[in-house]
Amino acid sequence: MPTLRDAALASAFDHAARTYDTLVSANPGYHAHLRRSARRLGLPAQGRGLRVLDLGCGTGASTAALLSVLPDAEITAVDASAGMLERAEAKHWPSSVTFVHTPAEQLGAAGIGSGPVGGFDAVFAAYLFRNTADPDRVLTSVRDVLAPGGRVAVHEYTLSGKHRHRAVWSAVCAGLLPVTTALGDGALYRHLWRSVLEFDTVTHFSRRLTAAGFTRVRALPLPGWQTGITHTVVGQVPQERTRG
Ligand SMILES: C[S@@+](CC[C@H](N)C(=O)[O-])C[C@H]1O[C@@H](n2cnc3c(N)ncnc32)[C@H](O)[C@@H]1O
Repeated sequence: MPTLRDAALASAFDHAARTYDTLVSANPGYHAHLRRSARRLGLPAQGRGLRVLDLGCGTGASTAALLSVLPDAEITAVDASAGMLERAEAKHWPSSVTFVHTPAEQLGAAGIGSGPVGGFDAVFAAYLFRNTADPDRVLTSVRDVLAPGGRVAVHEYTLSGKHRHRAVWSAVCAGLLPVTTALGDGALYRHLWRSVLEFDTVTHFSRRLTAAGFTRVRALPLPGWQTGITHTVVGQVPQERTRG
C-alpha cells in the first residue's frame, strides 16, 4: 500500500473525521501532550496580542491545546481536509479562533501570512509534517509566515532510531488496526503506521529545521508509551533576517 498523499490523504481524513475524536481520546496522554508542546513554544502567559497559526488542525484538538495555553491569542487554524475542519468548526470556540480550509503548501494563495494579516508570532503543527509530500517546502512556508523572532513547535511521531521504539510503535499500530479497519478507515491507519516508520528520526527532522533557517532548534521528549516515539521539535526564526 503506497503512502497516502494530498487529495487521497484529505479524502481518507474526511472519512475518518467522524471517529477521530473518540480514537484519540482513547490514546493516553494525547491532549495533555499537545498542551505540553504548546507550552514549549515558550510564549508569554495568556498570549495577549499574539497571533498563532495551527497548521493541520484536524478536528481542533491541537487548536484546543493552543487555546488552553494561550487563551488571549488570536488563533488561525488550517487544514486540508474539509471533513476534519467541519468537525472542528462545529465545536464551541471564542471569536479569536478562525478556521481556514487550505493545504499547508498553499498558505500564501489562501492569504495566510501575507498582507495585513501577515507575521505570525508562532506556528504549531501537530502530526502534520509526516503527512506532507515535501516537508522542507512546508518548513520554508512556515518560516515565511513567521515574524522575525517567531517560534515554531512541531509535535510529531519522530522515532528515536532505537529498535525498541520502532517495535513499540508497530505493536501499538497492529493493535489498533482491527478496530480502525472495522470502522472503514484501515487505509488511513495503515498509512499512519507506515508513514512513521518511513519518516525522519527526531535527529533528522531537527536538522531539517536548521537547514530551513530556524535557530535554537531543540528536540524535547514526551512521556508514557510515546517515549522515543513522539517529540516536540522547537525552533525560532532569527530576529534579523539574512538577505537572500
Ligand atoms: C493526525 S491529524 C492531526 C490533527 C490535529 N493537529 C491534532 O493534533 O489532533 C493530521 C491533520 O493534518 C491534515 N493534513 C495533512 N496533510 C496536510 C496538508 N498538506 N496541509 C494541511 N493539512 C494537512 C489532515 O487533514 C489532518 O486533519
